[in-house]
Amino acid sequence: MVARIVAQLRVARIVDHNWSHHMSHNLSHNMKYFIQTYGCQMNYSDSERLVTVLKKLGYEECDHYSKADLVILNTCSVKQNADNRIYGLGEPFAELKKKNPKLKIGITGCAIRKCTGIRGECKEEIFRRMETVDFVFRIKDLMQLPDILRKLHHVEGANEIKDLLHYFDINPTITNIAQVFIPIMDGCNNFCSYCIVPYARGMEESRNIREILDEVEKMAKRGAKEINLVGQNVNTFKPSDVDSKSDETPFTQLLRKIDKVNGIDRIRFFTVHPKDMTDDVINLYGELKSMVPHLHLPVQSGSDAVLKRMNRLYTVERFKELAKKMRKRIPNISITTDIIVGFCGETEDEFMESYNLIKDEKIDLVYVSKYSERPGTSAQKEQKDDISDDIKKDRFERITEVMKDVSHEYNQQFLGKTVQVLIEKVDKGFASGKIPEFKVCRFPSDNQNLIGEYVNVKVKKAMEWCLDGSVAS
Ligand code: SAH
Ligand code: SF4
Ligand code: F3S
Repeated sequence: MVARIVAQLRVARIVDHNWSHHMSHNLSHNMKYFIQTYGCQMNYSDSERLVTVLKKLGYEECDHYSKADLVILNTCSVKQNADNRIYGLGEPFAELKKKNPKLKIGITGCAIRKCTGIRGECKEEIFRRMETVDFVFRIKDLMQLPDILRKLHHVEGANEIKDLLHYFDINPTITNIAQVFIPIMDGCNNFCSYCIVPYARGMEESRNIREILDEVEKMAKRGAKEINLVGQNVNTFKPSDVDSKSDETPFTQLLRKIDKVNGIDRIRFFTVHPKDMTDDVINLYGELKSMVPHLHLPVQSGSDAVLKRMNRLYTVERFKELAKKMRKRIPNISITTDIIVGFCGETEDEFMESYNLIKDEKIDLVYVSKYSERPGTSAQKEQKDDISDDIKKDRFERITEVMKDVSHEYNQQFLGKTVQVLIEKVDKGFASGKIPEFKVCRFPSDNQNLIGEYVNVKVKKAMEWCLDGSVAS
């Protein structure tokens, strides 16, 4: 049960997920697709655009890759094990291809850097490592997918897609109206020493405010109440249609406009970088109706020395100051973070600084990662991955323990209170979703119509991962 709840808690962030669309309009042939998405919200959102293209080509969704004629893996390469999971699929795919000669395998996402094309046409490393892969495409070349599939599967259509300038211009096929992810920018210029993202996704590119607002408005008309804005470093959002006379940052201008969209009353964003978070964004908390009492502020380490080796360009003091300013505006705000344990040369004392930061700053949810060396990053070239797996594992577990204590204590404030839950899922007799503070809350129900709706729930039990309650009368 706990595992299921934790999995659900993570869904907003790390998605590894089976699609569940059952609609299709063009049944001229019965080609079936299956998309497996790994990684962060950016990939989740990209897959929603990918679905639109496949549906336009007449493919129908199916619920397992063994039934599909087309399998697309949308990959993440932030850690080694994410890469390994993809390579592990080589053999099962070879078996499936024996049973279904029509089956084609495509790879996109952060593992694809160099080119877009079918086997033989382009030289991506993955063709060599996985013989079963038929084609690859960089997600920014999504507009070329119809051409690739015309060659491989003789499907036609989606001509309007080919002429688009950017894949963000493709309308997403929303998976869950309670979890709407809207990309505002792509890429990252920061080059934290451990991180593959700037290599995988390239340099920062922002969408225009008008385009983003159009998408938000469309979602609001379809019943969305909460919007998750996605970008690797949302504070450096730089659209070309910004009001240059304003003293406020473009990100603040965007938040003010989204706040005015009818029906939207919760905005979250992933991710803020502590070096770039500005006071004008902080000042919106408590001012705009839709700023939820939750901020994800990835710190990565509680040690200044480690932050320096990570090239994070801020100090722990800066993180603490930001947390203090946030708490001055919203005393009970939930602050969540990311921590990497076992980074190059991390001593026990340096680790304890991370441990104590979580405890002292009452960080009530931590996404902990064991450091994983990534080829091509500056840490891989210039530092040594010298912390053993056992130590990494031990530190991972200790951070998880302290985080559980903090969350458990934080969650007690909801006991006996009525909270507003935006229902994401109704499964096995429970409806569940998030409260504004980003906690999962569930209550007994089988009513599928609740998905995307608010329900007021009286909390009867407050555990570290989840609040349990019943519909408030
Ligand atoms: N832009 C975000 C992070 C995106 S990557 C930020 O700056 O915080 C998501 C998370 O994966 C990171 O926050 C980090 O905790 C983790 N991560 C990234 N590279 C990693 C690596 N090489 N090993 C382990 N964890 C890593
Ligand atoms: Fe990676 Fe750093 Fe960019 Fe985040 S800010 S995506 S951790 S390089
Ligand atoms: Fe992974 Fe790419 Fe996101 S590497 S974490 S899917 S930006």
